[in-house]
Amino acid sequence: MAAANLERAGLDAELLSADAGQVLRDAPDGAWDLIFLDAERPAYAGYWPDLLRTLRPDGGLLAVDNVLSHADEVAEFTALVEAEPS
Ligand SMILES: C[S@@+](CC[C@H](N)C(=O)[O-])C[C@H]1O[C@@H](n2cnc3c(N)ncnc32)[C@H](O)[C@@H]1O
Repeated sequence: MAAANLERAGLDAELLSADAGQVLRDAPDGAWDLIFLDAERPAYAGYWPDLLRTLRPDGGLLAVDNVLSHADEVAEFTALVEAEPS
């Protein structure tokens, strides 16, 4: 469905069918300008170290779904983000 939507939008993108956690772990430091996180909520806190490491340090953007709709389920994650000075 993503491929069809991207094609309809005329966007050329590389789609990876892989474990996102592994893709994050394997990514080099500062690899991403933007990360849209919308996976299994219990996994969010575990992703945090690699999210922080692989986001571009100057102006990288992390967009996370369900922080309002399921605040209690991501409380550990949001606490990590809010505690991060950088
Ligand atoms: C909430 S849906 C994503 C919806 C989509 N972002 C959207 O806005 O339409 C979460 C999807 O992430 C997939 N997913 C969850 N954990 C994953 C992981 N570790 N690696 C790859 N895909 C994962 C699930 O199979 C599911 O298809």
